[in-house]
Amino acid sequence: MSQADDHEGTHEGTRRDFLYYSTAGAGAVTAGAAIWPLVNQMNPSADVKALSSIRVDTSGIEPGTQLTVKWLGKPVFIRRRTEKEIEEANAVDLTVLIDNDARNANLKDGGDGSDVNRFLVPPEGELDGEWLVMMGVCTHLGCVPLGDGAGDYHGWFCPCHGSHYDTSGRIRKGPAPTNLPIPPAEFVDASTIQLG
Ligand code: FES
Repeated sequence: MSQADDHEGTHEGTRRDFLYYSTAGAGAVTAGAAIWPLVNQMNPSADVKALSSIRVDTSGIEPGTQLTVKWLGKPVFIRRRTEKEIEEANAVDLTVLIDNDARNANLKDGGDGSDVNRFLVPPEGELDGEWLVMMGVCTHLGCVPLGDGAGDYHGWFCPCHGSHYDTSGRIRKGPAPTNLPIPPAEFVDASTIQLG
């Protein structure tokens, strides 16, 4: 094997095995409202395809904070919600929702916009509803919403044109037509989420 081949193999292996750690915490979202490059959505490179499934270490994410990771070229929010956030999400009357659809790729038969249809099933022994995993792309024109209780509904806010999402990531006010979608995701052990 040439040195170049060897180098390439190491590089690919590192990428494939790469774990996203939660050191960035809540600050990761504040970079904010930039348009996510459309080219990544429309024409994924070989590197992006190789990362169609990634694993995320959740052990450093405290209640009330979130981690943003990049998956398939787009940001994904992994939020560990507080009890107050969960209560707020549950208290919402579904008739007031702009989009009463779960938008959850993990529900085979779909479902309404209830919070129970949106959060990730937690590892054994953990609080139901604590983990919310969503695409961090505004459903209006694709900006990255601000998080950490932002907006009128204490969830996420997209300042580009004023879309407000609640603590379940459901659109409540503004031009965005649909809830933030839930990507394929699951806990593969007590502190690891697999996306894709
Ligand atoms: S892109 Fe989010 S409100 Fe327009």
